[in-house]
Amino acid sequence: APSGPLAGRHVIVTSGPTHEPIDPVRYIANRSSGKQGHAIAKAAREAGARVTLISGPVTLPDPPGVTTVHVESARAMLEAVEGALPADIGIFAAAVADWRVANAGEQKIKKKDGALPSLSLTENPDILATIARRTENRPPLMVGFAAETEHVIEHARQKLAKKGCDLIVANDVSAEAGVMGGDSNTVHLVTASAVETWPTLSKTEVARKLVERLGAMAEGAKP
Ligand code: C5P
Repeated sequence: APSGPLAGRHVIVTSGPTHEPIDPVRYIANRSSGKQGHAIAKAAREAGARVTLISGPVTLPDPPGVTTVHVESARAMLEAVEGALPADIGIFAAAVADWRVANAGEQKIKKKDGALPSLSLTENPDILATIARRTENRPPLMVGFAAETEHVIEHARQKLAKKGCDLIVANDVSAEAGVMGGDSNTVHLVTASAVETWPTLSKTEVARKLVERLGAMAEGAKP
């Protein structure tokens, strides 16, 4: 049996972007690489957890020893998370698209002379809020991410309350910070009672330190 601070725990991690179809060949996406989420899944596995990684489309390999479920859209990601419950810890690092195309074509939209297609958008489910706000089957420790370009801490605090999670890992994703697609990250851990700022670390180191912290928090929450 695996040993380590998270031995015997089931951890669900979401990672990567989502793709929202416009028609069978086109989609709306974002620049998330999945590097941070995948590093967390790997670190949780190395800490002895059973890990289910729900991944949007990324170019990264599946982490060894981790059950990886591949999805494209936000709705499919929510369904996969629900299918993976129950869990002890949920770490939702995916950059889920806020909107999807309401009038997605079943066939490829054809180019017509002089006429432009128009897309109408509708809101996607908030996967983190949906899972963190439910009473049944809620993982006792729910972690969200907040990618912000300004007022990072203030926005993270608001997000913590709005989504009902226990911890927000906030990071600055302004262009100068180079986090999106990059290999390092500067994060702030925001809970209802405290803020802790970590130095700039590699995404692997952020993942290890975060997993270590969550192991201690989960231990404290034991009945
Ligand atoms: O509101 P915002 O997108 O900034 O919140 C980010 C956090 O919420 C991340 O943890 C992300 O994985 C999660 N989220 C989600 N479903 C959404 C939007 C965000 O799970 N539709």
